Amino acid sequence: MNTIVVFASGSGSNFQAIIDAIENKTLEAQIAGLISNKEQIRAIERAKKAGIPVRVINPSDYRGPEEFGIALLRQLHLWNPSLIVLAGYMVKVPDQVISEYRNQIINIHPSLLPKYGGRGYFGKKVHKAVLEAGEKVSGCSVHFVDENYDEGPVIARRQVPVLEEDTPDSLAERVLAEEHKLLPEVIAKLLSESEN
Ligand code: GRF
Repeated sequence: MNTIVVFASGSGSNFQAIIDAIENKTLEAQIAGLISNKEQIRAIERAKKAGIPVRVINPSDYRGPEEFGIALLRQLHLWNPSLIVLAGYMVKVPDQVISEYRNQIINIHPSLLPKYGGRGYFGKKVHKAVLEAGEKVSGCSVHFVDENYDEGPVIARRQVPVLEEDTPDSLAERVLAEEHKLLPEVIAKLLSESEN
């Protein structure tokens, strides 16, 4: 069985899309656990409801990225995932985790990368920037995670139209609906490739 570990920091609607895809059997995988950087987030409630183990590993409990990375690796070694999925994870993944799991960590981002990616482009800020630039299309991207924010190779993108009357909220909602389809599809594709 293909084991994945999900990292999340917030609502976890993308995490839920993965759980649902596994339940609907459109994705053949098992989620070994959820890693979060904070308590009391909706993603943890979703994990509990689905019976998925949760570990909260808060970077501020450690002296620096290196110690934080050691704590993450300790947990990952226990769960032994073939793929790590960052689904709204708002913390920089320490370098030693990235190098150990090179090309096995993916992230979903709410823009058509390389546009509107990198430091400072997160949450509503992405959609606000897209609207301010007068873009006619936006979308979402899934990419491999490397040492720099949102810069690893793009695996897949999905477009949505930007409407005249859009606000950052309405655009975010349209993009998020596509994220929920794209992310499980990309996971399924990567897992099937890693089996061969
Ligand atoms: C998504 O828009 C994702 O692209 C970005 O953070 C948001 C997470 O939303 N990285 P959710 O927690 O999955 O609902």
